Amino acid sequence: MAEATEFTLRLRRYDPESGDAAYWDEHTIELEPHRSVLEGILQAKARFDGSIGIRCSCRAAICGSCGVRVNGQPGLACHTHLDAALASSRDGVIEVEPMGNMPVIKDLIVDMDAVHWKKIARVTPWLINKEPIPEREYIVDREAMVDVTQSMACIQCGACVSDCLSMEVDPLFVGPAASAKAYRFVGDPRDDQQRERLTDLAQDPHGIYTCTHCFKCIDACPKGVAPMSQIMRLRRRAGSDHHIDDRNNGHRHEASFVTLIKGYGLLHEAELLPRSYGGDSWFGKFHPKAGKVLMSSLPAITKAVMRGKVKPKTALLGHKIPKDDLKSVQRIYDKVAARDQRLELNLYITGYDEDVDGAGTAPAAATSGAAQTGADSGQPGQSPEGSPSR
Ligand code: SF4
Ligand code: SF4
Ligand code: FES
Repeated sequence: MAEATEFTLRLRRYDPESGDAAYWDEHTIELEPHRSVLEGILQAKARFDGSIGIRCSCRAAICGSCGVRVNGQPGLACHTHLDAALASSRDGVIEVEPMGNMPVIKDLIVDMDAVHWKKIARVTPWLINKEPIPEREYIVDREAMVDVTQSMACIQCGACVSDCLSMEVDPLFVGPAASAKAYRFVGDPRDDQQRERLTDLAQDPHGIYTCTHCFKCIDACPKGVAPMSQIMRLRRRAGSDHHIDDRNNGHRHEASFVTLIKGYGLLHEAELLPRSYGGDSWFGKFHPKAGKVLMSSLPAITKAVMRGKVKPKTALLGHKIPKDDLKSVQRIYDKVAARDQRLELNLYITGYDEDVDGAGTAPAAATSGAAQTGADSGQPGQSPEGSPSR
């Protein structure tokens, strides 16, 4: 059995009611290296300072109560081993701070009601069943349930919310956790309001098109929910399946992006803006909406040209890449277009299960022949670890 070792914790302390500024507080604890950061904090609280504020319950990565930042990375204190935390520390001291994007109630406890739960409530987080209700149970395709399993794994810890860059800029953004929750029902064939839910999230100026694909929520999530992938699924359903023409120009922007890469092999930035507003074709720039946005961007464009950041020729004609390279890019498009149906990758199910013999050699459960699409780049090997279904 591993021997108890000394670890120094540097805890962020703050009591808004005191009127004092936040400060760092250090305590040295003694525990086996495989024990968790949460256990370390609880030992410091028991031995040295009972006023340390930390929220926890299950201590087993199930309840989602103990979200914090350890050495700047959001996650669960009970799911972070002391030795791993020490290895990722800057100076041999394990730094623990409250999560971001939420107000601090005390020390490491943030106000989840003020941000996280409000956003969850905003997406109508329950099933609105189809009528008529069957006499017995609803029969649902296995594939459809597999599709929503990943979002069902969420334990509402708020780690993804903590470091969402878009939410930092736009606090009204619906955010990663609530978007994943929304997909839980949009992807459920028993739900009767899928189009309404999608319209709501697509038309909201702080909805699904506010995400900037920074991947932070994917990195942060201790349960492999990959909230950004759920947002991409919502977008595909809204724009491609339900043809929702959102007032945020979100779907048009995505479509233009795809068309331009196909045509030029690289992004033609000068075309992207007018097409996103005016429509996905060369004529898009003549649409009044495109004219308006081009006019308003003129000072920025002129500045970029004058500073040499943009060459007028490239701005007008776009980038050129070798013909063979362009053909290779276009072959990818052809391959995707040749598929009979869009298949969503759900690595929560199809990824490698670390707990099964022969780990890393075979998919845990090959589901519907899932293939990777678009931004669905989740994390292989991130197994469910006993998450409850929600
Ligand atoms: S990928 Fe989108 S939702 Fe996720 S953290 Fe980044 S901006 Fe937020
Ligand atoms: S999506 Fe992941 S990180 Fe976000 S609240 Fe759910 S479990 Fe936590
Ligand atoms: S205490 Fe329950 S998830 Fe950490």
